This record gives sequence, C-alpha cells and structure tokens, in this order.
Amino acid sequence: MSIRAFIFDLDGVLTDTAEYHYQAWAALAKQLGIAFNRQDNEQLKGVDRMGSLQFILDKGGLQLSDNQKHAFANQKNHHYQQLIEHMSEADLFAGVHDLFAQLKQADIAIGLASASKNAAMVINRLGINQAFDYVADAAKIKQGKPHPEIFLTVAQTLGVKPAQCVGVEDSLAGLQSIIDAGMQSVGIGDAKVLQQAQWVYPHIKDLSLPRVLEQANK
Ligand code: BG6
Ligand code: MG
Repeated sequence: MSIRAFIFDLDGVLTDTAEYHYQAWAALAKQLGIAFNRQDNEQLKGVDRMGSLQFILDKGGLQLSDNQKHAFANQKNHHYQQLIEHMSEADLFAGVHDLFAQLKQADIAIGLASASKNAAMVINRLGINQAFDYVADAAKIKQGKPHPEIFLTVAQTLGVKPAQCVGVEDSLAGLQSIIDAGMQSVGIGDAKVLQQAQWVYPHIKDLSLPRVLEQANK
C-alpha cells in the first residue's frame, strides 16, 4: 500500500527538546530525593506530563495528593519553558527542511503527533509551523502514548488509512503507539533501544526517504 502520510513526533525527533525534558525532570527528581538517570528517562520519553511525574514518584515510593502533584508538574513545566526560551530556527535538527521538501514533492502529507502541550510553541520557534498539514492538540488526546490515539487522530484528520502512514519516533512509548496504530515505523536513536521499529536511524538527517518508500510500498 502506498505511503500517503508521514507523522512525526517532535521532542527528540525534530529538535533536541527531549534533552530539556530530561534535565527538568532530573532536577525535580533530585529535589524530591529520588534517583533518576538517563536509563530511567528512556521509559519517560513520549509519556505525558502527569504520567511522567507519576513514574518518578513511583520510582521513589512517594505518595502525594493531587494538588501536590499538579504543583510539581507545573514547576517542571516552568523549568522546561525556561530551558526552551532561547530556542530558534537554528535548533531545528539538520535534515528536517530537506526531508519535508522531499515529502511535499512526493505529495505525502506531514502530520505532527507530539504528546507535548508545548508543541505549538516549539514548532513556532523552530519556524516549521506552516510545514504541517495537521498538528495534533495534545490537550485533546484522552489516552497518551503508548496508546495509539494520537497517531490515529492525525491519520484520520488527514484522511489517510493507518497502513498508508509512516510514524517517526524517538521514544519507546511512541513507537508502541505507531505499531498499535497499524502504521509503519521509523525509530530515531539507538537501534538497541528501538528494536521494534522497521527502520532505525541515529538522527533524522540519516533517514532515507527513497529507501523507506521503496520498502514500505512493497
Ligand atoms: C513528549 C516528551 O513529547 O511530551 C515527554 O517526550 C513529555 O518527555 C511530553 O513529558 C509532555 O510534554 P509537556 O510539554 O506537555 O509537558
Ligand atoms: Mg520524542
């Protein structure tokens, strides 16, 4: 079946915001006295804000009231927003403009399926907000990644069947969403971590569109 849409994750795929999410969670975990390292963080990538906080609290065996949880989630978000304040078009990963141009030329739609409520702000800063045919609103998604809802919502809005979509993710949770959505999958990052993806590239600039299309369209 021929590919009609590419649906991208944002943080860690199109720009290095995954690192800023990690730094902000690591600072909060430290403040709470909970051990949290990069390996733990792999489980958090792609997971929404409250889900991420809960993961850290569970790791530390800490039970908090809903009010306290919201206060800590807000604190992390303020820290994260400070870390991304300086972001600009220069922070877009190399290769993204080129890939988007190739997709447009091939008449393949471009969607965004980010779990982040900061996604609209980030794509504005990166100067790519006009490049997408549809951007999912994370606030309207009921079931976060690894549930397939966000990828299915983007495909449906684009009017494309899941099997005609390629999802691009750096996170384990996001990759599971793509697979459970019945889409073809590209992992960006470490092939050992993202073993389940059909294609894995260390960086988005390494993604070979002709190769993916040739193999996907079989
Ligand atoms: C995902 C990130 O894209 O967005 C997660 O991979 C993050 O690390 C999630 O927790 C939610 O982001 P935000 O900006 O709404 O807190
Ligand atoms: Mg990501």
